[in-house]
Parts: sequence; structure tokens; C-alpha cells
Amino acid sequence: MKRKIACLLTAIIYSVFILTGCAKQETTEKDDLTVIGMSQVGAESDWRQADTASMKAVFTEANGYRLLFDDARQEQENQFVAIRRFIQQKVDYIVVMPITENGWDAVLKEAKDAGIPVILVDRMVNVKDEDLITAHVGSDFYAEGKKATDWMKEKYANAEQVNIIHIQGTKGSTPQIGRTAALDDAVKANSKWKVIARMDGDFTEAKTYEVMKEYLSNRDTLPQIDVVYCENDNEAYGAIKALEGFGYTCGKNGVSVISFDATYNALVYCQKGKIAMTVECNPLLGPLVESVIKTLKAGEKPEKNRYVEESAFRPEDITEELLASRKY
Ligand code: AHR
Repeated sequence: MKRKIACLLTAIIYSVFILTGCAKQETTEKDDLTVIGMSQVGAESDWRQADTASMKAVFTEANGYRLLFDDARQEQENQFVAIRRFIQQKVDYIVVMPITENGWDAVLKEAKDAGIPVILVDRMVNVKDEDLITAHVGSDFYAEGKKATDWMKEKYANAEQVNIIHIQGTKGSTPQIGRTAALDDAVKANSKWKVIARMDGDFTEAKTYEVMKEYLSNRDTLPQIDVVYCENDNEAYGAIKALEGFGYTCGKNGVSVISFDATYNALVYCQKGKIAMTVECNPLLGPLVESVIKTLKAGEKPEKNRYVEESAFRPEDITEELLASRKY
């Protein structure tokens, strides 16, 4: 009996030893992870979802990261709350996709005072002290807008007048500011171009559909519509749905719908001719953010501002190979 008890005790002690050993090993491994606090805009568009997927694919435990991901649901105040929480949690890096540009000085100074590098992704912020930002990776939104207006210049070179409806993205966000500025500059430079209506689509299909439907409900009193300049793909889907609902044709001999992002569905719309020009905005930014973090870890200084390469597509540019290889 005594022998049995002794054996049992040994087995228990051994199991406890193994278990605590494993647990310890797991804690140690987790402690080695680089902790990233990430504040994402929301899930307003296909582009945004592809961007989130790109981040989540890179910042995995298998790659040595613990990702604390926060979805701000398109509210800047939610981003401030998340960033303050990340500071309390003493994360190693803060990654932010800022919804709009203004109002960031105080919260980013708190991050700087806590010694946490802040990396901006996609959009920018407007702050007095540039040192609040360690690095930015994203798109040159003015250059994107210029690609669209250059195409319009070519297409309407001989037109008497070009009537444009402008659907803006989230007001005060970097893509809205850049894409709007490119259109405004082109309108100033082309005396025959006229913005006949400007509406807020907030980068969503639903909102654009609503505002366009309301605008088009006065169809009999409206001037001819030549171009609908939508500041992203999802706005274009909403605009096309409303236009077609009121009997307009979108395409070569009808309304030219312009979109930004060039996600897979937009390329399909473009192939069918419903989108006349879609300008690429690359959401696959996870690997670039990781390369900034690796540079910082190596004690080096990353590039302050890194713009990604992007192109633009017309219906004739959409091949089956392009569609098959599109990752977003
Ligand atoms: O900031 C990038 C923009 O935000 C994309 O064009 C749009 O689709 C997204 O919502």
C-alpha cells in the first residue's frame, strides 16, 4: 500500500512538474512576442477589409507578434480611447489608420511621452510636431486623383461641356482631401468642366445609393450627367445602382463612372464597362508595416513617408489574367 501511495505521489509530482514546465515555456515564448496595438478605421469598404486582412496575415503569433486589434467603427473618438489603452498596456508599437487628419496632437504626444513609436498606415494626420509620427506607409491620394482627371481630359477633349457629379469620401480624411483636390484643380484648369453636384458618400455603398437616389429623384429638372467621380469603389456601386434605377446607362455612350481602389469587384464592373476608369489604391500594406518595425528593431531609421506603387484601369485593360491574379 505504502509503495502504491509513493508511486501515486511521484506521478502527481511529475505531472505537476511537466505541466508547470510547459506553462512556463509558453509564457516565456509569449513574452518574446512583439506587441502591436492597432487602431483600424472600421469596415466601411472592400478596400478596408482587404487592408485588415493584410495586417492580420502578417502580425501573427507564428511571425512573433501579438496583435491587439481595435475597430474604431468610423469614430475618431474610438481611436483615441484605443490608443490610450495601448499606452496603458505598454505595447511595443502603435499602428494607426487615422479616420480624419485633425485633432491628433494630444493623444500622439501621450504615445511619444510613453516612448512608443507610432506608425501611420494608409491615411495621414495633421500635427504641429512631425516627430509625433515615426513613419507612414500608404498611398499618394492626390496622384490617384490626377490619374482619373487625366483620363477625363483625354476622354472629353472635344466636349462642349462636361457635367460632373462628385461623391466625396469621409470628410477630412486624407483620401477625400487628395482626391477632391485633384478634381478641383482639374476643374479650375478646364473651363468646360462643371461640378453640378457634390455629395458626401462616406466611402460606403449604402450612403451613396441614398444620396444619389435623392438627387436623381428630380430627374426631369436635372442637366445632362457626363461623369460621376466617386472617391472609392463602394461609392461607385451605390451610384451605379441609383443611376440604373432611374434609367441611366453607365458606360461608353452613357455616364462615365470613376472609382478608386480597383478591388476585384470594381475590375469586374470595369470589364463590363459600367465603371469607365478605376484607379488603384493598394490595401496590402501589412508587409510594409512589418518592414518599418524590423528597421526600428534593428536600431535604424525607417523612411518617414513611403508611398506604394499604383496604376489605373479602363475596360480595355482588364484581362482574365489580371482578374485571376487580383488578391483583393
Ligand atoms: O483610405 C483609403 C480609402 O479608405 C479607400 O479608398 C476606401 O475604400 C477606404 O474606405
